[in-house]
Amino acid sequence: MKIRHLNLKNWMNYQKLETGELRDRMFIIGPNASGKSNLLDALRFLRDVALPAGRKPSGGGLQKAVRDRGGLPKLRCVNARQDNVVWLEVKLKGTDGANWSYRLGFKGEGKANNRFIITEEYVEKDGESLLVRPDDLDKKDHDRLTQTWLELTTANEKFRELSHFFSETTYLHLVPQLLKFANLIGGNTIEQDPFGQGFLQRVAATGEKTRNARLRRIQKALAAVVPNFKELRFIKDDITGLPHIEANFAHWRPSGAWQRESQFSDGTLRLIGLLWSLMDSSSLLLIEEPELSLNEEIVRHLPRLIQQVQKQSKTARQVLITTHSEALLSDLTIPAEEVIRLEPHREGTRVHLLDPQEKIMLASGLSVGEVLLKTTKPEDVGQLELSLR
Ligand SMILES: Nc1ncnc2c1ncn2[C@@H]1O[C@H](COP(=O)(O)OP(=O)(O)OP(=O)(O)O)[C@@H](O)[C@H]1O
Ligand SMILES: [Mg+2]
Repeated sequence: MKIRHLNLKNWMNYQKLETGELRDRMFIIGPNASGKSNLLDALRFLRDVALPAGRKPSGGGLQKAVRDRGGLPKLRCVNARQDNVVWLEVKLKGTDGANWSYRLGFKGEGKANNRFIITEEYVEKDGESLLVRPDDLDKKDHDRLTQTWLELTTANEKFRELSHFFSETTYLHLVPQLLKFANLIGGNTIEQDPFGQGFLQRVAATGEKTRNARLRRIQKALAAVVPNFKELRFIKDDITGLPHIEANFAHWRPSGAWQRESQFSDGTLRLIGLLWSLMDSSSLLLIEEPELSLNEEIVRHLPRLIQQVQKQSKTARQVLITTHSEALLSDLTIPAEEVIRLEPHREGTRVHLLDPQEKIMLASGLSVGEVLLKTTKPEDVGQLELSLR
C-alpha cells in the first residue's frame, strides 16, 4: 500500500494541511520548527493507534497514542478555534490498485476522566463505505467511542489490510550512540524503537537466507563508499548470545580485521540502518534527516539509492524523508512533485507551493535543492553570531 494524500486539521502546528499527491519517494523541507517531524508524527500516530495491544508491552490504541504525546492540549493545534476536533485523513492505493480512505476525528470528553472521544471514524474502499462511526450503538454507549476499530482486531476484519499497513510503519531516526551502547542501556528501549536501539534484534529476527541476502547488498553499497571496507557479517556472541554485526576492513594482516558495530563510524552505522530499513518491509518508511553523519558525496547519492531499492520490488516501501540538506536535493532526478515545502505562518504551517519564477528555474535545469531549499533558510541568520557578542 502507498499513501497518496494526507490531510490534517488541528494537528500540532497545522491548523489545516493538505499535502497534495504523495509519490513513492517524498522529501519534506522547511525551516527549523516548521513541522516536518510533526507531519511524520501524524503517520506514527496512526501506527500507534493501529498497533494491536499485544505488540506493545503497554498496549496500543487511541487513548495511549494521545497520552504518549502529552495529551490533547499538546497535540491539538494551539490555534484551533471553536472547532476543537483533531482530524486526520489518509487516502491510499493498495498494491492491487484498490483506493482506500481512512478518517479519524477525536476530541476531549470534557469530563474529569480525561478520555478522548471519537467524533468520526470512517473507512472506504473503492467508493464503498466499510465503516461509518459514530453508529447507533456508539450513540447509546459512549464508552465505545474511546476505541477505534483500527485498533480492534475483532472488529476490523473488512479492513484488516489497512490496519496492518498502518501498524507496520517504521520511523527511522538512527542515533548511533544508542545502538553502540545498547548493551549498557539494557532494557530501556523506547517503544517502537525510533532511535534504532532494537536494530540488531530486528536483524537477528530475520530469517537467515533473507538476512544474508540483505547484508550482501548492503556490503556492496558500503564497499563503494567506505574506505577499506570489505565484508559484513552477522554473528551471535558465544558468551552473551547477543546479536552483532561485524565488518571486515582491509588491513596489513592477510585476513583483515573484524570490527563490531560499537567500533563502526557513526556514518557507517547510519548507512547500514538506512539500507536495512529500505529492504525490511513493504510498509511505510519515515526517515528523519538521513544526511546526518554522512559525507556529502554519499548524501548526494541517497535519493538514487532509495529509488534503486524501490525499483527492485513491486511492493517496495514508500519513503517520506525530512531534510535540510542541499546535497541530498541536488539530484536532478528529483522532481518538484516529490518535495513538500513547509512554511510556518502565525496561524499554523502551510504547504508553500511553487511560484512561476521557481517553475522556470526548475525547467531550466536547476535542482530542487538549489531552487526550493534556499527559501527555507531563516532570513535573519546573520543575527545568530551578533546575539552571542
Ligand atoms: N499543539 C501545537 N500547536 C501549535 N504548534 C505546535 C504544537 N505542538 C508543537 N508545535 C510546534 O511545532 C514546532 C516543532 O515542529 P517540528 O518538530 O515538527 O519541526 P521540524 O520542522 O521537524 O524542525 P527541525 O528542522 O528543527 O527538526 C515547534 O515550534 C512547536 O512549538
Ligand atoms: Mg524535526
